[in-house]
Amino acid sequence: MNILLIGSGGREHALAYALTKSPLCDHLFSAPGNPGTAAFGENRPDLDVADPAAVCAFCAAHAIGLVVIGPEVPLVAGLVDDLTVAGIRAFGPTRAAAQLEGSKGFTKDLCAEYGIPTAAFARFTELAPALAYLAERGAPIVVKADGLAAGKGVVVAETLDQARAAVRAMLGDPGAEIVIEECLFGEEASFFALCDGSRAVPVGTAQDHKRVFDGDRGPNTGGMGAYSPATILTPALERTVMETIIAPTLAGMRARGMPFTGILYAGLMLTADGPKLIEYNTRFGDPEAQVLMPRLAGDLVPALLAACDGDVSGIVIPFDEGRAALTVVMAAAGYPGAVMRGSVIRGVAEAEAGDDVIVFQAGTRTEDGQLLADGGRVLTVTALGASMMEAQARAYAAIARIDWPEGFCRRDIGRRAVAREVAGGGI
Ligand code: AMP
Ligand code: GLY
Repeated sequence: MNILLIGSGGREHALAYALTKSPLCDHLFSAPGNPGTAAFGENRPDLDVADPAAVCAFCAAHAIGLVVIGPEVPLVAGLVDDLTVAGIRAFGPTRAAAQLEGSKGFTKDLCAEYGIPTAAFARFTELAPALAYLAERGAPIVVKADGLAAGKGVVVAETLDQARAAVRAMLGDPGAEIVIEECLFGEEASFFALCDGSRAVPVGTAQDHKRVFDGDRGPNTGGMGAYSPATILTPALERTVMETIIAPTLAGMRARGMPFTGILYAGLMLTADGPKLIEYNTRFGDPEAQVLMPRLAGDLVPALLAACDGDVSGIVIPFDEGRAALTVVMAAAGYPGAVMRGSVIRGVAEAEAGDDVIVFQAGTRTEDGQLLADGGRVLTVTALGASMMEAQARAYAAIARIDWPEGFCRRDIGRRAVAREVAGGGI
């Protein structure tokens, strides 16, 4: 079948890599795509993915059997609904179900109703009651904008002054809504489940590195690196997450008349009281897809089709359990703030010549045969290894071969997993 992949990031490059391994995939179109996805099929930057009618017409004209949507914005806008009405099979949640990512308040209310473990919280649209709540609760405390913010709408405030400033800034826009919640402590991990509206099967674990600088300092970003598996999530903890978080979420969504289909990505805090939900995303993570996809030992396409068709019960997502994957994001100087575009990147082929290395492209473009930086997160350099330490060493050896003075990366991706491995945990 022909597959249309929507998006242009490192995650979509990784999905293109996995989808085209399937014997079921005859031809892959990526819209808009990037220089990385171009190697796996046909990029269609001419297709306006924000125009559902144009996407439906494209699918009809190109006999598309499956649409895979990478980023959250088209999901929250309801592209799956439009495709479904047009009779086109699309992987991902409906607009209503994508509220799990699109509205933090919606998710917190669902957690409260179904007893899903999460931080204590309150929702606000007015400044005075929000400030009063801060005074009552004290710091540290977490302030979140309700809607999509590309991973940047959260302030973990150490002091009440910081919290008040965040509340004032976020409630500054007319119609704005915020969530204020208890600050949780522990290690974070990401858990992915493939859902068919009623049932879920696990699709692996990963750990992201959200802060921009080494040692988890600086502002939050979309993610500066990741590794998989997240060894901190033991099989027993995974079962707890499935039972106490994923299953009641699916039940609650069904009861609300908005069954969830697609990838449910639970951002977890592993607290002393057990795993708690920090947030949901309704898609694969970026850069988590860049470590999950290279570890897949089987075919992704039948699993996605089973979810679309409403029955994942027979699906086991096969991972290469003996292999660890680690990815390091190379970002343009200034990220997550304003960045310069157009600097020249050299050495990607040399980096990929290393053992088990794949360089996934995100914010790049080609011009006159040169690869240029064209965004904030520009490359994600993934390596596989028999241990996390080996994967880490290979990824950083590959980065050393990339000649891009205008870029930077964190030097400590995988630090926790490697330390656990050294202490005798294995991958
Ligand atoms: P989110 O966009 O909700 O995932 O939040 C981004 C990051 O902020 C998370 O990955 C955490 O590092 C941090 N964060 C969010 N909520 C909390 C919380 N309740 N307690 C502590 N840290 C949090
Ligand atoms: N890496 C975090 C995300 O994809 O939202």
